[in-house]
Amino acid sequence: MTVTDPKTPRVASSSVEPMFVERWSSKAFADKALSDDQIASLFEAAHWAPSGSNRQPWLFVYATDGPDREKFNSLLNEGNARYAPNAAMLVLVFARIVDDEGKKIRTAHFDTGAAWMSLALQANRIGLNTRAMGGIDLDAAYDVAGVPRDKFETICAIAVGYRGADDDIHERMVKQNFANDRKDVSEIAFKGSYSG
Ligand SMILES: Cc1cc2nc3c(=O)[nH]c(=O)nc-3n(C[C@H](O)[C@H](O)[C@H](O)COP(=O)(O)O)c2cc1C
Repeated sequence: MTVTDPKTPRVASSSVEPMFVERWSSKAFADKALSDDQIASLFEAAHWAPSGSNRQPWLFVYATDGPDREKFNSLLNEGNARYAPNAAMLVLVFARIVDDEGKKIRTAHFDTGAAWMSLALQANRIGLNTRAMGGIDLDAAYDVAGVPRDKFETICAIAVGYRGADDDIHERMVKQNFANDRKDVSEIAFKGSYSG
């Protein structure tokens, strides 16, 4: 399958739902707010993700505007601060790494990744763009979001909004702002035993 959008020159080698190929993380965000329904649908999708023993260790804290948003923006590293403040919403993602009995939740990161992907695919379905960002002040995120350090680990932030045009980003970013490719499937999936 080939996607015809010039920004998404991706080709799938096997039959797959187009949504997997069409989702990509643009840095360009349009100056347009999200509705409460759109925001609700993103977290709705995220919270149906599977998790070990159904512990649902993911946690999302978000900001759209006002003083909260200023605080969220201040967490971005230099590179991400060049585009992510334009996104309608920033989401801080945390994984709960210990349960109420103090026992480690071994699959917390894996589970939280599943929830992020659900959110990203739902966003794409409703015409929105997401970009996850590890480049944030991971420690300061606890205080900004009011999340306890002893139970959670900061994973990343996500910029969410309407996809923008090339004019919405710095011209130096435009060249790299397209859907990138992947390794061949034969490099990541093996029958029987790994032979990399
Ligand atoms: C956990 C995580 C952290 C990331 N951190 C950053 C980041 O700090 N800055 C950035 O511009 N992109 C970041 N990205 C975006 C990746 O570079 C991007 O997802 C990857 O190149 C694949 O491209 P695609 O999402 O368009 O398919 C991050 C993605 C993930 C999943």
